[in-house]
Amino acid sequence: MIRLDRLLVNMKFGSRKEVQDLIKNGEVYVNGKIETKKDRKLNPTNDKVVVLGEELYYKDEIILAVNKPIGYLSANIDPMHPVIIDLLKEPYHRHDFKIAGRLDLDSQGLLILTTSGHTVHEITNPNKKIVKTYEVTTDEIIDIKMLNRLLEPIKILDGNNDSYITKALEVKLLSDKMALISLDEGKFHQVKRMFRAIGYEVINLKRIKIGKYLMPNIKPGEYLEIKKDDIL
Ligand code: URA
Repeated sequence: MIRLDRLLVNMKFGSRKEVQDLIKNGEVYVNGKIETKKDRKLNPTNDKVVVLGEELYYKDEIILAVNKPIGYLSANIDPMHPVIIDLLKEPYHRHDFKIAGRLDLDSQGLLILTTSGHTVHEITNPNKKIVKTYEVTTDEIIDIKMLNRLLEPIKILDGNNDSYITKALEVKLLSDKMALISLDEGKFHQVKRMFRAIGYEVINLKRIKIGKYLMPNIKPGEYLEIKKDDIL
């Protein structure tokens, strides 16, 4: 149960004072009736709340699968670049999403957003060993023997520029300059650094799968709501 004014602040309808004014002015309906008590207790998953004609979309947890476009930052706010949160439209613009595993500015593909910090932990904690699969395009024709070296321990630098031994779980050549790689880790620039270690520059990187969830056929910038069971 949550107080009506607290719910409306959480859902970004304004400051405490602003939402209390909305309630006092009869702009808020609960289950079809005007509610003027700011301390009215309600259960937002069951009670229908309408504010200024907008019905609140509330769930204990909301998970979105986003097809991140190149040039968007995996962040909530940034002074320089468009951020992934900018893509979210009604009714998702009122929720605070966290990103379960970032992609570089120049990478694209599957990004999972969730309102639950616990789910972020379940997806990103290295001990959980969640497998991520990437489609890689390289600058030069890939030699299958070199690609297979990624299945053996190989040294790269991690985010602190310390050396780090890693290996891929699976690799697959798709065409001359394209390959798939699956990892159960997520070090900074890991895929680019692994390919650099075998002599290739990654010129396009697209994440296509996280856990069980294969990115559906949606355009860059589009997203859809999914369930935790779809991923874990
Ligand atoms: N590895 C990278 O190098 N970049 C990404 O965005 C994701 C994995």
